[in-house]
Amino acid sequence: MTDVLDQEVFRYSSDAQPQLLVEDVPLSKLADEFGTPLYVYSKRQIVENFQAFNATLKASGKEHYVSYALKANSNIELLRILAVEGAGADVVSAGELLVALAAGFSPDKITFDGTGKTDAEIELALRANIHAFNVESLEELTVINDIATRLSLRAKISIRVNPNVDAKSHPYISTGLKENKFGIDMAEAREAFLYAAAHPAIEVVGIHVHIGSQITSLDPFIKAARSTVKFVNSLRVKSGIVLEHLNFGGGQGIHYRNVVRHPQLPPDELGEEGEYVPSLSEFVGAVLPILDQTGLKIIFEPGRAIVANSCALLATVLYTKANSVKHFVITDTGMTELIRPCLYDAYHQVVPLKLTPPPLEGAGRGVVSPSQKVDIVGPICETSDFLAQGREMTPLKRGDRLAVLCAGAYGYTLASNYNLRPRAAEVLVDGDTYRVIRARETIEAVAGVSESVITPASAQ
Ligand SMILES: Cc1ncc(COP(=O)(O)O)c(C=O)c1O
Repeated sequence: MTDVLDQEVFRYSSDAQPQLLVEDVPLSKLADEFGTPLYVYSKRQIVENFQAFNATLKASGKEHYVSYALKANSNIELLRILAVEGAGADVVSAGELLVALAAGFSPDKITFDGTGKTDAEIELALRANIHAFNVESLEELTVINDIATRLSLRAKISIRVNPNVDAKSHPYISTGLKENKFGIDMAEAREAFLYAAAHPAIEVVGIHVHIGSQITSLDPFIKAARSTVKFVNSLRVKSGIVLEHLNFGGGQGIHYRNVVRHPQLPPDELGEEGEYVPSLSEFVGAVLPILDQTGLKIIFEPGRAIVANSCALLATVLYTKANSVKHFVITDTGMTELIRPCLYDAYHQVVPLKLTPPPLEGAGRGVVSPSQKVDIVGPICETSDFLAQGREMTPLKRGDRLAVLCAGAYGYTLASNYNLRPRAAEVLVDGDTYRVIRARETIEAVAGVSESVITPASAQ
């Protein structure tokens, strides 16, 4: 949902052998220097994404704040960038709360989500004096009240309502349907607000709704906004409960296809137009006039829309092989680094860091090299370990480097040590400078041994 940039952050250089750049740095230089798998982020893209979100809301003249959802990416160096920009933080664990505070987010712009907050997490957030807990059940309300009473504090809370709206996203990232575990049914929400208001250590300040992630049509947002507004207004009129804010969650979809274009890249199977994703202005234009009917301060909690397209995950081809039905490109990067293709059937554009000149005799630029459909897979011992399936790619060979685009959200944060693989390093690019913002884990640390236990063969 980001608006078009003057000069794309990820783009191919215009030399005879085009290579992929992030800002002013060739990605192959970073792959050579730091190895792969490697997460590479653009500071400029993160700042532009946040400012675009903020500016679109500011232009509407409504009181609001944008609270970045840390679950998308919680690297402290990226968080510092957003804290400086004035973002709020939406956290779901003690770890996310601590890193948000350390990164410099103001506690009065921190919200705490999640269906299963532990007592220790509630206590920590109360002591930090956060803006609000987004409460998901009546039992949680009682627990928060008890802990706040014990600490002689008052807990500010929003109640997360479940509007029973189909986000039309992948079922695993849809959260606003009755059968989902999230929030309190709209039909029972009034009772929940009255129940909350009756607790002496609780101050009811808001309502929260979040219907899912990677939502690419406006309709579900509009439906959720209408039913939330209707509820807020009736809560005020019929029950005398007046709120301060309406938190409309995150979920804004982004483009994953045709992110980087070049005449030498095989065309995307969806064609030049790619997939439809509403722009930020369309989203705000559709929902804000509805939400504004409440007169409440509005909070948005985007995660993906702020960080996803700021990042490429770099991989190296280890082997290629074919069987009677498929061609495989086996890389050093797989579901341990990026589980989204396996978990959500998610599409990520995968492109070579260097484009080879068109091989056709007499052919000029703009002619696409012969390409073939391949599965780009990782080294993990699972059939679900793939980055892309049936993808048209120009010929690839051992040692070639690839970029998996738009890997900034739910990439590193969902990475694992499965197969005892060390988690990748992360690098932040700013113009023509770059630095490591998280070191690659060592094999020894992941394996739980203090030093190499292999005795050199010659010493035996
Ligand atoms: C409550 C809540 N808010 C915000 C987000 C961020 O969603 P997205 O990254 O799709 O914007 C999520 C993600 O699942 C969420 O659960």
